[in-house]
Amino acid sequence: MNILAIETSCDDTSISILKDEKVISFFVLSQTKKHNKYGGVIPEYASRIHTSKIHGLIQDAIDDSGIKFSDLNSIVVTIGPGLIGTLQVGLIVAKTLSLMLNIPFYKVNHLDAHLYSPFIGKKRDEIPSEAIFLIISGGHTIIGKKINNKLTILGETRDDSIGESYDKVAKILNLSQYPGGPIIDEKFGFLDKKNFKHLKKVPITNLEKYDFSYSGLKSWVNQNINNFSIDEIIYLFQRSAMEQIILKIKKAIDEFNIKNVIIAGGVSANMYLRNKISKIEGLNIFFPKLIYSGDNAAMIGYYFYLFNHLMEKCEYNLDVKPRLKLGEI
Ligand code: KG4
Ligand code: ZN
Repeated sequence: MNILAIETSCDDTSISILKDEKVISFFVLSQTKKHNKYGGVIPEYASRIHTSKIHGLIQDAIDDSGIKFSDLNSIVVTIGPGLIGTLQVGLIVAKTLSLMLNIPFYKVNHLDAHLYSPFIGKKRDEIPSEAIFLIISGGHTIIGKKINNKLTILGETRDDSIGESYDKVAKILNLSQYPGGPIIDEKFGFLDKKNFKHLKKVPITNLEKYDFSYSGLKSWVNQNINNFSIDEIIYLFQRSAMEQIILKIKKAIDEFNIKNVIIAGGVSANMYLRNKISKIEGLNIFFPKLIYSGDNAAMIGYYFYLFNHLMEKCEYNLDVKPRLKLGEI
């Protein structure tokens, strides 16, 4: 089965071709540099960039894959959640390709695809049947459990997502880079931690049960910008942001006695989190490869590989669903 997958839910134009579970061609064109000067993604501008780049990227993906357009069996596209205009660019391209090549097209939920991204390249039966999962990204902070493929959400953020808090704090600190997560994580990596040990940690918002909250942490940074150096704030912020995540993971593995933990979404690239969590004994932790942690089309195509037997081909009057929730389609 040769699958062409399209992802345009935000500011990454991504095309991937898969032969069943294997990625045979993969491209991501990030727009971050273009949105950088505005301190965030400008939706209208993002749609225009997708529109100007997507066809060239599809041609590149085909050239790189070693197969021809006529060898494709299915087109798969993200229909949500995401920005309405950028999703529409991907969907209209998927419909047009489907019509021209006379092959069906299918829709995928971006969040569901993130969840399975750590397993890209693996066969269906290599995925653990039971797991606690976290989706931590620019738009979402979700913890849940997966039993077979039934997903139950245990908790979500009540305000900002964790990625959003990284982005906002980077802006407050004037790090002049969007998104802020990678730069904060990188700077944290270079800190000589022993110089910061004396600092009192920022009390975390520890909501009952499994919900998260990140707006308090952002406010703390806002209020303390003159009380600490930038390095000190980076140190305190990153540790506090990740403490909530680690706390809830520990709570869930204890409550449900599940030892497999899936962590996906853009923030799963975080090196501090990866190190910290690998030190918890007795867990099997599944992170995506770094190239598949952010938004990408390989995860969209892979989700189709996993679940195509349960999917129906789409009609040409299908619209995008910018507010789709995990597990919905
Ligand atoms: O999944 P993603 O690419 O897009 C959404 O679907 O939202 O996630 C993007 C988010 C941004 O907020 C970005 O700052 C954050 O992921 N991010 C990170 C790191 N790399 C990306 N946050 C913390 N540490 C990182 N290394
Ligand atoms: Zn995403």
